[in-house]
Amino acid sequence: MKLRNLSLGVLSACIALLGACNQSNNKTTTTTTMNNSITYGQLPADSAFEKTIDGKQTHLYLLKNKNGMQAAFTNYGGRIITLLVPDSSGKMIDVSVGIGSLDGYIKSTESYYGGTIGRYGNRIAKGHFTLDGKQYSLFTNNKPNTLHGGKKGYQDVVWDAKKINDQTLELTYLSKNMEEGFPGNLHIKVTYSLTDDNAFKCEYEATTDKTTVVNLTNHAYFNLNGEGSGTILNHLVQLNAKRYTPVDSTLIPTGRLDAVKGTPFDFTKPATIGARINDNDDQLKNGKGYDHNFVLNKHDENQPVAIVKGDKTGIIMEIYTEEPGLQFYSGNFMQGKNIMKYGEKDEYRTAFAMETQHYPDSPNQPRFPSTVLKPGQTYKTQTIYKFKTR
Ligand code: GLA
Repeated sequence: MKLRNLSLGVLSACIALLGACNQSNNKTTTTTTMNNSITYGQLPADSAFEKTIDGKQTHLYLLKNKNGMQAAFTNYGGRIITLLVPDSSGKMIDVSVGIGSLDGYIKSTESYYGGTIGRYGNRIAKGHFTLDGKQYSLFTNNKPNTLHGGKKGYQDVVWDAKKINDQTLELTYLSKNMEEGFPGNLHIKVTYSLTDDNAFKCEYEATTDKTTVVNLTNHAYFNLNGEGSGTILNHLVQLNAKRYTPVDSTLIPTGRLDAVKGTPFDFTKPATIGARINDNDDQLKNGKGYDHNFVLNKHDENQPVAIVKGDKTGIIMEIYTEEPGLQFYSGNFMQGKNIMKYGEKDEYRTAFAMETQHYPDSPNQPRFPSTVLKPGQTYKTQTIYKFKTR
């Protein structure tokens, strides 16, 4: 699918489904706005992120680009907290659903808000895999499987952070040999930046001293209408994926790459998240909604793999990645148990995640693209979330 087709598809769908799309305003002068009674623009307090954990200091880090786009991160889990992007009238909207304090993240019943995920994003069946003839056992934190790295994934460790400039934050972490049961000392560098074309760019690099498996991603929770503005069910989604990996009832891929055509997983043309989410479909039942890996079509770096549009703000997010898969999660486990940045609860399906990745359970699925990293090799990948309004 061509970029042009994807963009045109979204454009015509906006016109048909949502009414006229407003013109974008390149000049962003406002940093504060009201949306559904929430005032955006107020950044989290530094003091709410100062703590010593495992002997390491945590902080809040702020980035901004030349157009006034701003983001807040913490080195606790390399989490993105806030992401202020302009809507179609130039007002800044916080599209990253997050929590306003470090204690809030530590106590949260939902573990992954905005986190950097590893060593292995998504699930490994029954917490086992074999590498070079040796079996490795992991903690099964999502019974009966291992999810997002195990008991204490990278979203809960303190990263070393270096602010390179106003627009760039570099995070590094040494994941020691056999940490969470994974072999090899893994030296990781993740660089988060806000570029002047209004993108949030994530660059990942890692090296190991023993053969291991690696699958890093970011678990930002988005609401393109703004955090606290209700469900994401009317967001329009288009995915550059003709196939997906169906799962069993524990969300482990069956190994098949099924066609999306004729199923609620067909987002090759723009469709709202809510249009088919409650269809009587076994895969939707297994995922409790969308919680599936999409097999991305062959594409070049200039073609977005996903385009999502907020129906109330007109904010469009395009995702570009080198990864072969994308986990589309529709916030099915959100239960309103946590208080988020603007004082609202994290109610059911009020955010979605699009985690670029290798397919779940690849270490046990020889036909999936490999996630093995060997000494001497460098794991290198990037994902770009680009924001625009038309
Ligand atoms: C991923 C998983 C989901 C869930 C969310 C966070 O998307 O596939 O099952 O764990 O993360 O809760």
